Amino acid sequence: MTALDDLAGRHEIRTSEAMEELGRRIGSDLVAGDVLILTGPLGAGKTTFTRGLAEGLGVRGPVQSPTFVIARTHPSLVGGAPLVHMDAYRLGSAAELDDLDVDVPGSVVVIEWGRGMAEELADAWWDIELERPVGAGTDGLSPEELDADAPRTVTIARATAR
Ligand SMILES: Nc1ncnc2c1ncn2[C@@H]1O[C@H](COP(=O)(O)OP(=O)(O)O)[C@@H](O)[C@H]1O
Ligand SMILES: [Mg+2]
Repeated sequence: MTALDDLAGRHEIRTSEAMEELGRRIGSDLVAGDVLILTGPLGAGKTTFTRGLAEGLGVRGPVQSPTFVIARTHPSLVGGAPLVHMDAYRLGSAAELDDLDVDVPGSVVVIEWGRGMAEELADAWWDIELERPVGAGTDGLSPEELDADAPRTVTIARATAR
């Protein structure tokens, strides 16, 4: 059993600190070969979650939004697996993801916007969906409103390729 098995299901995460803490808890339990797919709108907290995850895993930061780089590798500071943090937003297809030749068995892989592409990388992965409360869509919200501490829901589920 891993932390993720215990955390499967839906959680309300009220602050960005709590989001980092969730990432830390999960990251401290991940091993090489683990793949996590993060889904959720801009500002939902995908990168914030990954920042905590990197800390828990013990890899070198800083974790930033990988907007201009498709994949960034964070080496381990504790002799463990590196973190490969990917942003699939700009990838046209799963085939392009495959072309990046990520060492999945030797890394922990976190892919923002990767849903529908993970099948190329692994037989099984964790599907993590981050949402804003119903009625508070990102459209029309200013950056301040987007960043202000506000509850998100995080739903964690195991997924397997068919
Ligand atoms: N409950 C919360 N969980 C996560 N982030 C939050 C929360 N409340 C406010 N925030 C803020 O929202 C922003 C989320 O940004 P980021 O993690 O880059 O999102 P994404 O990668 O999904 O686009 C950050 O500025 C963070 O501080
Ligand atoms: Mg991001």
